[in-house]
Amino acid sequence: MNSPLLAPSVLASDHARLAEGVATIKSSGLEWAHIDIMDGHFVPNLTFGPEIVAALRKDSDLFFDVHLMLDNPHLYVEAFAKAGANLISIHVEPDYPIEETLDTIHSLGCQNGVVFNPGTPTEAVAPYLDKVDLVLAMTVQPGFGGQSFQTPVLEKVAELVELREQKGLSFRIEVDGGIDPDTLPLCRDAGVDTFVAGTAFFKAEDKQALIDLAQA
Ligand code: DX5
Ligand code: ZN
Repeated sequence: MNSPLLAPSVLASDHARLAEGVATIKSSGLEWAHIDIMDGHFVPNLTFGPEIVAALRKDSDLFFDVHLMLDNPHLYVEAFAKAGANLISIHVEPDYPIEETLDTIHSLGCQNGVVFNPGTPTEAVAPYLDKVDLVLAMTVQPGFGGQSFQTPVLEKVAELVELREQKGLSFRIEVDGGIDPDTLPLCRDAGVDTFVAGTAFFKAEDKQALIDLAQA
């Protein structure tokens, strides 16, 4: 069993004060910060480059969970590893050497993860399960914070739990998108151990309620 983790996404924090967002995660007693990297091609939005991650790293010892939403992630994993990422996750939808890139992430000294979108079947990540530290099941179409949780993804979480058991593996199962005090328990009950929350963490009056639910 992996210990449960809440990984707040700084996408929902004030981008002029990103370091304060990271500090808020730390002062809330949490260990992981989720950092969403978007390229304007794979997803219709742009966010942060490796220099921003490096700047945040200077002031933080949090575990940086870096989610690459890029058409060409293999061209950037080294830059994000050098910037201070601890885990780098890459999508299975674009066409690039996925297996090699997962190996490269490990050789750079980072943990690795594979990500699949709500419309992508579990079979698409199955070939990589024996070489990843984490599988991220997107619970919204990636690109923007503040979207509604897509409940059918829970069936894919159940499939991942089953495959992990069958294969005797221990990768984390993470969800990302629309995670709040209502949807987090559904994910936890389905077998999720790693919960990304942007809006429900940074815009919430009571962050502790979400933290308590994640750790229940
Ligand atoms: C979506 C990003 C998410 C996003 C989640 O493309 O990958 O990490 O920040 O935001 P909320 O929690 O607001 O749905
Ligand atoms: Zn994300």
